[in-house]
Amino acid sequence: MALKNYNPTKTNSWYKLSEHFNASQNIVLKELFQNEENRKGKFSIVLDDLEVDYSKNKITQETIDLLVELANEVELKDAIEKYFTGEIINATEGRAVLHTALRSTNEDAILVDGKDIKPKIQTTLRKIRAFSNKVISGKWKGYTGKSITDVVNIGIGGSDLGPDMVVESLKFYKNKLNTHFVSNVDGDHVSEVLRNLNPETTLFVIVSKTFTTQETISNANTIKNWFLKSASIFDVAKHFVAVSTNLDAVYDFGIDKNNVFPMWNWVGGRFSLWSAVGLSISLAVGFDHFRGLLDGAEEMDNHFRTANFEENIPVVLALLSVWYNNFYGAETEAILPYTQYLSKLPSYLQQAVMESNGKGVDRNGEEVSYQTGTIVWGSTGTNMQHAFMQLVHQGTKLIPADFIGFKTSLHGLEDHHEKLMANYKAQMDALAFGKTKEEVHLELKTSGDLDKINSLLPYKVFQGNRPSNAILFEKLTPKALGKLIALYEHKIFVQGIIWNIYSYDQFGVELGKELAKKILKK
Ligand code: F6P
Repeated sequence: MALKNYNPTKTNSWYKLSEHFNASQNIVLKELFQNEENRKGKFSIVLDDLEVDYSKNKITQETIDLLVELANEVELKDAIEKYFTGEIINATEGRAVLHTALRSTNEDAILVDGKDIKPKIQTTLRKIRAFSNKVISGKWKGYTGKSITDVVNIGIGGSDLGPDMVVESLKFYKNKLNTHFVSNVDGDHVSEVLRNLNPETTLFVIVSKTFTTQETISNANTIKNWFLKSASIFDVAKHFVAVSTNLDAVYDFGIDKNNVFPMWNWVGGRFSLWSAVGLSISLAVGFDHFRGLLDGAEEMDNHFRTANFEENIPVVLALLSVWYNNFYGAETEAILPYTQYLSKLPSYLQQAVMESNGKGVDRNGEEVSYQTGTIVWGSTGTNMQHAFMQLVHQGTKLIPADFIGFKTSLHGLEDHHEKLMANYKAQMDALAFGKTKEEVHLELKTSGDLDKINSLLPYKVFQGNRPSNAILFEKLTPKALGKLIALYEHKIFVQGIIWNIYSYDQFGVELGKELAKKILKK
């Protein structure tokens, strides 16, 4: 059964939300906090090691009630079941959307074309484990009998961003292998990566669902030619492995049948890091940590599938985002992790969010008359405080922001971590509560700058009332990261359901590719 079709703006709850917005848009966060004793507790959700505090949003209980009513009216619960059980919800490509099956450890069968997909997922996981163990332990030998020291992931989009982001995020857990990523068709990218590599000790993982992507195939061929300058064609099997659905193209490239890791068309590229696309993750941090990542995601899946909408983290965050996107007219959202390890999360989420929900035609084939996909962007705290936060604090745009933090640091250095987390909290407080004219006046007065009061006062006022979510984990572990990524995957799903769009195709990237081919031919 396909997903239900409707125009969200014509629902009863949307109408009520519009009325509520008109009546409440002058809401003042500072006053809400003064008047509600336990606002933080009331608008927080705890899931084991994760606490999401969404109290610093321009909402009241009525806003949440109405947003949940909207979720119910568009039959979100039913859509979630269709997503998890393998219905063809990617209707424009005729596919199920089953990245959740990749991390599932329960016994329930999931059928695609009448066959349970769980056994092949398990077989592939075992293959990833065996291969990773062999390479990490040094038992896998290159063509001159030396062990592998470097791994190069060759892929682009979902075949690059996910593994690259996770390998960077879990750097603390890495083993002795050095992992590199080549994605851009810009020859300088591949040249730079190859510059310091030794063909005798390097393993290349070609990741391409289609195995036809111009960038990936060009880079793979360039790398193979570089390799063949010192090795022979018979050595390719020891240094090149592939992750793909297109087996014929993989064999044509010269890759040994045993060194091919399967992918399936029911896993979208941008949601594929949990599949064999994550091979470079498993190589970089070991299979147990890769499994930890999957386990964390599965915990989020179970929470998302079973929790009431009011207590459901991905649902609440998705609804809040709809509130700002469709009622307040916010165009963008900032992703602000307070750990350098997550520096690649914003670019990863740009593909996940914007390739999924950047759609202007609804599930009826009609152009939408309302806003859909948000623009996401961001960087790590505290670096971004010295870069773009000025605009977020005092600019003219409303930018809801997710602050992602960790209570404990990985390397210790307590005083650094205390400063980091003080900034994490301070930024959200400043955004929410600002600084009034009176406060600035008093400050200038007490600092003896009385003569400057008139000229400086307006510039030093912070309006505040700017929304943020605090997404706080105990510690950056593979499990916590898995949970965080799955949280955003489900947020994307919920928003696609509400906006009545197809989130799992990406026809918008095709035209540019076609034109580039034509231009190249000329
Ligand atoms: O650019 C679009 C896209 O299809 C992405 O969705 C995908 O992640 C990427 O290209 C790479 O595709 P492939 O894995 O087939 O090389």
